[in-house]
Amino acid sequence: MITHNDIRDINLAEEGHKRMEWAEQEMPVLRLIRERFEQERPLAGVRLSACLHVTTETGNLMRTLKAGGADVVLCASNPLSTQDDLAAALVKFYDIPVFAIKGEDHDTYYRHITAALDHRPQITMDDGADLVTGLLNHRTDLIDGMYGSTEETTTGVIRLKAMAADGVLKFPVIAVNDSDTKHLFDNRYGTGQSTIDGIIRATNVLLAGKTFVVGGYGYCARGIAERAHGMGANIIVTEVDPVRALEAAMDGYRVMPMRQAAAQADFIVTATGDKHVIDARDFEVMKDGCIVANSGHFNVEINIPALEALSAEKRRPRTYIDQYILRDGRKINLLGEGRLINLASAEGHPSAVMDMSFANQALAAEYLVRNHGTLTHGVVLALPRELDREIASLKLTAMGISIDTLTPEQETYLSSWQEGT
Ligand code: ADE
Repeated sequence: MITHNDIRDINLAEEGHKRMEWAEQEMPVLRLIRERFEQERPLAGVRLSACLHVTTETGNLMRTLKAGGADVVLCASNPLSTQDDLAAALVKFYDIPVFAIKGEDHDTYYRHITAALDHRPQITMDDGADLVTGLLNHRTDLIDGMYGSTEETTTGVIRLKAMAADGVLKFPVIAVNDSDTKHLFDNRYGTGQSTIDGIIRATNVLLAGKTFVVGGYGYCARGIAERAHGMGANIIVTEVDPVRALEAAMDGYRVMPMRQAAAQADFIVTATGDKHVIDARDFEVMKDGCIVANSGHFNVEINIPALEALSAEKRRPRTYIDQYILRDGRKINLLGEGRLINLASAEGHPSAVMDMSFANQALAAEYLVRNHGTLTHGVVLALPRELDREIASLKLTAMGISIDTLTPEQETYLSSWQEGT
């Protein structure tokens, strides 16, 4: 068992503990799972390494997994998203080893992933697939002992499916992102609110009346568009997928290529999962003072080297703003170094949506253990639909909402074809 940690400051633990308890009040589904795990101990003795954003919500997930009997360690899934007080709280109050420091450099980030793999996990829990990538590239000795892996985010699922297609993935992976109770809520309402929160905390500028460009129209991007629209911004959506572009148009937004949109934008926020969505040609036409941010998983959506190359000077007017002064004098404001702004300058998605995402993670870990030996290796699976629906039902109950049930007559009708008009 690993007994060491690498965190900013253990003296931050009290503050992190208080914030973790505050978050827990909004996580009733995860709490129910934790209470059951305490009784049933479905993860007893299982070594689990998690590579997630180190937030108060993740703290409550770690606590739940430990209550289920797992021997857990945690490292960061992004160099800029760690909440140092929470990392300290997990170490001090829950005896959970943590390897994460907000603002850690590239080498430290990968050293922390190595430390999480040194735990010799039987389950890995990823947000972006960096842990599985590290395992497959450097620790193939661990493959035989693996029950499987779970993945939180769209980008990670895309990477894992590419590994499966290449034949390098050697154990089952549960794509938590594919559960309805994950992507319909976390990606949309979570990213929507937390991205606006991140932009406002970083800049304190007004959105009302501004032209706000959203790169992409997947679940995350549509959440951002909806919330920015709610704040009074005029929305433009850019897309490469014709169906999504059509949806954006019929949701009432203007749709056009990025180059055209960039010339009108006060804000541009990317959430596509792809690289160089904002490129040199777009910087060349941007208005003076344009604010550019990313809410996608990796810091590749904005071509920062191209922006650097166009710039004569760079300053930092506020903590999360890098202001690039182009050679023609225009200023472009890049937020959070192009890393996901909702976690860089704010606190990520609110606890109430992470409740469902992390209920999926906890149940996915339990599912991998209970079905060990029967799941197909090298494939990316969704969590069974009954579990997804159970999470939705528990959430509804916690929210005090009851719904109708089908009558026997309706059930018969839905399973028959004879009855027409
Ligand atoms: N991803 C987005 N928001 C998050 C949060 N609050 N905690 C962990 N992962 C997240």
